[in-house]
Amino acid sequence: MAIHNNIASIARSDPVTTIAVSIVILLGLLFVALKEFFKPIGLRSTRSKPPGPRGLPIFGHLLEIRKQQNDPDSKWLRSLAQYGEMATVHLGSKTWIFLNSQRVVSEIIAKRGGATNGRSPMPISSGIVSRHGRSLLLPPSGWTERRRVMHHLLSGSALKQYGEWQELESTQMLAEYLKQPHRWYRHHYRYANSVVHRIALGERLVKSSKDLEDLQNVVTFFVGSIGRSTIDWFPDLDRLPRFMQFWRPYWERLGNWNEGIYRSWWEPVKQQIEDGTAPASFVRDVLLNKDTKYTGSDQDAMYVAMQLIEAGSDTTREALNIFIMASLYYPRAFKKARSEIDRVCGSNAKRLPVLADMDDLSYICAMVKETLRWRPIFQLTPDHCVTSDFDFEGYHFSAGTGFVINEVVVCNECEDPEDFKPERWLDGHEQDAAHGLLAVRWRLFINIARLVYCFDYTAMGPIDSRILNHHSTDEPFPVKVTIRSTAHEKLILEEATRLGVLQFAECRM
Ligand code: HEM
Repeated sequence: MAIHNNIASIARSDPVTTIAVSIVILLGLLFVALKEFFKPIGLRSTRSKPPGPRGLPIFGHLLEIRKQQNDPDSKWLRSLAQYGEMATVHLGSKTWIFLNSQRVVSEIIAKRGGATNGRSPMPISSGIVSRHGRSLLLPPSGWTERRRVMHHLLSGSALKQYGEWQELESTQMLAEYLKQPHRWYRHHYRYANSVVHRIALGERLVKSSKDLEDLQNVVTFFVGSIGRSTIDWFPDLDRLPRFMQFWRPYWERLGNWNEGIYRSWWEPVKQQIEDGTAPASFVRDVLLNKDTKYTGSDQDAMYVAMQLIEAGSDTTREALNIFIMASLYYPRAFKKARSEIDRVCGSNAKRLPVLADMDDLSYICAMVKETLRWRPIFQLTPDHCVTSDFDFEGYHFSAGTGFVINEVVVCNECEDPEDFKPERWLDGHEQDAAHGLLAVRWRLFINIARLVYCFDYTAMGPIDSRILNHHSTDEPFPVKVTIRSTAHEKLILEEATRLGVLQFAECRM
């Protein structure tokens, strides 16, 4: 009553003040309404959640999560460890629980996967940019069928076949290193792409440098779109009428460009399948085969195949680059790895290491694991969203809450985490891909073993091991590659000739 009287007396005294006061009140009411409408999932229930930093009203910690992407020390992500094994962070209208220890990752993501296998809506990066086609960002209703077809890739006979292709393609990579040493980083990408390309599409990779660059850029822009648009943090805004969605044209252009690049890889293969001239492949024998056929649209099938190629290539390329950086910084580990291979394959270039040497090359296996731990490729995984409410260790997690693995912190759960020490993995389980921190991909094993055996690396300018420039299609950091000896050169040439890949090593892919 008193407030009303005061306002009335202000109104009588000065119309300008009246307007100003009204605007302030209106803005206040609008702010309260917006705050209520966009209230983060985790604040909609009062039940106990893990502690976490306080953020700004409405936006939460959006600024921090964006800024940290350019911070080589990931200070903000590391700071979340102060709250314990789990930290609650509000980001727009989403609530994320950052998992800061391997123990809670295993409890929540692995053991309770049935309740945490959702994904929160991402109308921009999953919707417009990916045409709802990348299973990586889809909820269970979207990924169930896609993962069913992808599961065929894991049969025993398929895995054996992949092993042979990995050895062949890595021999070509060694020959490329020999013929064009200054393009070492390009060879990593061609190798990584070649194996998964052959698995998915059937033929050996014969693409131009530009085609490969385009596909690498597709991944870079797609990954860059995740979390970049404010709309993905406030997905309710996607319900606004189309004419009000002023942000759409920008993202539509990106989505169209992405789809166009995918089509240029997909259409020729589909045509061959229709003509009956396509070689055996995941697309021919599973995805479009009438017995196992993917039940979604042709466009969705294209996204399944192309996501596989992009996911498999980019990670492997980045991991190989990290390994080179580790070799520059930790020559002692490199030397130790080389003497292990010399014991098995001879220091005089008797033969190249093969996948079957894995049991005798424990240090190399440990080096693969340490490469993925030392500089994790993903700082955060996509959110694993709660599909039905559950309680864990005194906390309540309501549906819609997302769990993300804070890889930077989890990978630092060891002594001297900044040091690259393969020795920390020498625990009798080196060959076990699923044991320990990360599911290790053995395609890294064969390449790391062969590169250590045959080549030397020298930094050709200032380098910083925290700055890997993963998104560059040029040389990410300056390195000079030299062949170890003429005997190693001869061995590579002989092997590449025997496998019929030498002539490809001189092309500029
Ligand atoms: C260094 C190697 C690799 C790392 C670190 C890595 C890491 C990851 C991560 C963190 C995810 C998201 C998982 C989640 O939390 O839901 C993922 C998804 C995926 N990865 Fe990999 N990956 C690697 C290699 C590969 C390779 C070689 C392939 C294929 C040949 C591949 C295919 C995929 C696919 C298809 C998905 C999406 C699956 C789905 O959600 O439906 N990845 N990967």
